[in-house]
Parts: sequence; structure tokens; C-alpha cells
Amino acid sequence: ATAWVLLVSTLLFWVIIRELLPSKYPYVFFLQAHIVLLNCDVCSSFPLPDMLEAHKKYGGMGTLLVNKVSAESANQFGELVADPETNELLHYTEKPETFVSDLINCGVYIFTPKILIAIEDVLKQKKDRANLRRVSSFEALQSATKAIPADYVRLDQDILSPLAGKKELYTYQTLDFWEQIKTPGMSLRCSGLYLSQFRHTSPHLLASGDGKKGATIVGDVYIHPSAKVHLTAKIGPNVSISANARIGAGARLISCIILDDVEIMENAVVIHSIVGWKSTVGKWSRVQGEGDHNAKLGITILGEAVDVEDEVVVTNSIVLPNKTLNASVQDEIIL
Ligand SMILES: *[C@@H]1O[C@H](CO)[C@@H](O)[C@H](O)[C@H]1NC(C)=O
Ligand SMILES: *[C@@H]1O[C@H](CO)[C@@H](O)[C@H](O)[C@H]1NC(C)=O
Ligand SMILES: *[C@@H]1O[C@H](CO)[C@@H](O)[C@H](O)[C@H]1NC(C)=O
Repeated sequence: ATAWVLLVSTLLFWVIIRELLPSKYPYVFFLQAHIVLLNCDVCSSFPLPDMLEAHKKYGGMGTLLVNKVSAESANQFGELVADPETNELLHYTEKPETFVSDLINCGVYIFTPKILIAIEDVLKQKKDRANLRRVSSFEALQSATKAIPADYVRLDQDILSPLAGKKELYTYQTLDFWEQIKTPGMSLRCSGLYLSQFRHTSPHLLASGDGKKGATIVGDVYIHPSAKVHLTAKIGPNVSISANARIGAGARLISCIILDDVEIMENAVVIHSIVGWKSTVGKWSRVQGEGDHNAKLGITILGEAVDVEDEVVVTNSIVLPNKTLNASVQDEIIL
């Protein structure tokens, strides 16, 4: 759901940008505004206030959040070189074939409205080039129709790379967690990272209990106030339980996300899994994954309103909405 909100807001951002292009509304530059742009498939502590402060100090057009990763994994991202003194972005390449740097672009940006001029300049250059091609060669026209449309601006190739080393872009390095959400399993890992962040920033949100007044809690666990968890259940670490969920007596939950209106019945076990809205897990059933966050079927995911009957074991599987499972399954996608 968060990913969708971010996706929609990113699209909205581009729509707003198109509408606000400086030629239409020159006064946008008198606003003391900053534009925050976030990729929708990353998880991070998003240190926006600190980034904004740094951005104002640098005085450039944009500030990128950057992170150090291992040299082997760096080529999956936008690699960059920054001046260690001034933090200026000196060089930027998207997914390079040869190793450039272990500093990578996190997909979190703060821009001043001047970025709109840069976008418009790129658009103008592209249109000019497209027109030139159209009159000069029939062949070029043919390939141009297949190529990316002329009114398409890519942030990496068209804005970041050309502006690097021009005292317009600066970097802010995060020392907190940052991950890309490339597989469904990564959302479990990210959930764990956010819960461990809560331990430092908002510990009152985390559950506690020793089985006397409330369920036994191990490690970082979030339980929505409207959820009902039986005293004899054992929960954690890395568990998030959403609104109106009911967790029965003797249930055991480890590293999982339980969404709204889910019912986990007596003595059921859920490990390395995401249980979709309104699903039920029957008595003595197990819903589990190996916990390999990079594998396609490294965790188990139950879609909305899935009914796992009593004594059924579901392992490393993805189950689409509205299914009833009356027999055990392993390493399967149930359509
Ligand atoms: C819980 O999450 C933290 C942070 O991602 C991780 O270091 C730890 O290994 C996780 N524990 C389990 C049991 O998954
Ligand atoms: C699941 O069932 C509900 C209610 O019958 C229906 O509204 C929904 O469209 C179904 N979802 C899918 C994916 O079939
Ligand atoms: C599971 O359900 C299917 C279809 O509803 C039925 O044919 C099958 O006999 C059931 N299997 C078991 C073990 O109950």
C-alpha cells in the first residue's frame, strides 16, 4: 500500500512538474519551495530534515541521498563519485559495466525549482534534435519513431549525468539503513528494519509482554491497538500485526506481516510470511518460508481472503486471493 501511495505521488509530481514548467508560470521561482522526489521501491529512514539542511548549505540545484554498498553489488545501481570535501557530485553513471565507485544513488532527492528549467532545457534540446533528424534522413525518422518519445526526460541520463561536476548537484550520505525492494521477500526485511528503527525513534509503538498480562513478545513487534492477541500466543521478532487481526491461543508468529482482519487460529505457526487481509489460518496449521529474501519463493505470501484449513502446511508459496487450501503445498504459486 505504501509503495502504491509513493508511486501515485511520484506520478502526480511529474504531472505537476509538466504543468508548472517555467514558460507557463515563471513566478514559481519566487517561491521558497523545495521539491522532494522519492523512488517508490526503496526503504530507508528517509533523513529528509537533515538532507534539507545540507541542501540549503550546499546552495546547489539538487541534493541526492547516497549510500556506500559493497563493490560487487554497486553495478546494479547508479554509481557516483563525490568530492570528499565539498560533497559535490562529480560523476554519475547509471548501472555501469565497469566499476566506478561504491557510492550509489538511493533514489531520494531534494531539488530547488530551478530543476524545472533544467528539465525544460533538456526537452527543448530533444525536440530540436528530433526535428533535425526528421528533415535530414528518412532512415533516422524510422528509428526515431521506435526510440523514446522526444518529450521524455530521464532523470539519470538527461539530468544527473550532464549536471555532475557543474556545482549544481551535491550528495548527502546516509549512515542509516537503505534497501531496494526488488522482491516480495524484501518487504519482510524492510519491515524488520523499520521496526528496529522504531526501537530508537518511537519505542512506545513497540509491543512488550511476558505472557502474564499480554502475549509473550520477543524482539521488535508492532501490534495495532484494535488487534486481539491471546495471552498464550508468542510473537516476534520482526512481526507486524494490523488492525482487527485476531491471534489465537498458543499461536507462534516469527518474522511476518499480518494484515487487517486476519484470523490466526489456535496453535497455528506463521514464519517468514505475509498474510493478506481477511485471510484465516486454521488450527495447527503452518504458513512458512525459508526466509531467503532474494529468492522468488523465499517467503510465503497469502493474498486477500485466503483460507488455510486446519492442519495444513504451506511452505515457500504464493497463494492468490480467495483460495481455500485444504491440502499442504510447497514451492508453488497457487493461481
Ligand atoms: C529482524 O530484523 C532485523 C533487521 O532487519 C534483522 O537484523 C534480524 O536478523 C531479523 N530477525 C529475524 C529472526 O528475522
Ligand atoms: C475475491 O472475492 C471478493 C468477494 O467475493 C471479490 O469482491 C473479489 O473481486 C475477489 N477477488 C479476486 C481477485 O478474485
Ligand atoms: C480439497 O478440496 C477439493 C475441492 O474442494 C476436494 O476435491 C478434495 O477432496 C479436498 N481434499 C481434501 C484432502 O479434503
